[in-house]
Amino acid sequence: MHGWVGHNVYGAELERVLLDSAAIDRRVRELGDSISRDYAGRELLAVGILKGALIFLADLVRRLTVPVAIDFVAVGSYGAGTESSGAVRILKDLEQDIAGRHVLLVEDIVDTGLTLNYLLEIFRARAPASLRVCVLLDKPERRRVPVPIDYCGFVIPDEFVVGYGLDYNERYRHLSDIVVLRREVYRGNSV
Ligand code: IMP
Repeated sequence: MHGWVGHNVYGAELERVLLDSAAIDRRVRELGDSISRDYAGRELLAVGILKGALIFLADLVRRLTVPVAIDFVAVGSYGAGTESSGAVRILKDLEQDIAGRHVLLVEDIVDTGLTLNYLLEIFRARAPASLRVCVLLDKPERRRVPVPIDYCGFVIPDEFVVGYGLDYNERYRHLSDIVVLRREVYRGNSV
């Protein structure tokens, strides 16, 4: 029995554990190994997309054996609920200049691809030495624009998931597992 079922007050909204913390941990280690190998001899700037990538980024950078700096960007597009409006804008920009740097964009999940596509265009224009994408979860069924993904944790089905940084109306980010939200919870919220 998973921990959240018994003591989480929102437990009734959650359907099942899709990826438990042990599976996530194993995969994050593997991603860390690949990234460390690929960037050997170089210094990395890991850019987390707030707020969803916060926990993934924190775990990932601790698995890296290359020097790494951290920065964050915050974007808006999702309002309340589970559907993107399609419009993306930067709410908080980077603090560091990325020109000439090796930038790794770290994202929790790629859904339509609009967020990453938008950020990649903006970041490319700032002339980094290299620009790659690392995502924990990929939901390819809902893609509207293609996104080049260099490192992917898990490909998942088209379900709304929460936990490990991912939220539903700002809730559930703190769960250690990645859990499927019941469809009844967000049905009616979608556009
Ligand atoms: P995209 O622009 O449609 O690719 O959306 C990416 C963003 O949508 C992610 O950073 C998440 O914030 C949000 N998102 C998409 N699918 C989910 C999900 O299943 N759970 C939680 N957030 C999601």
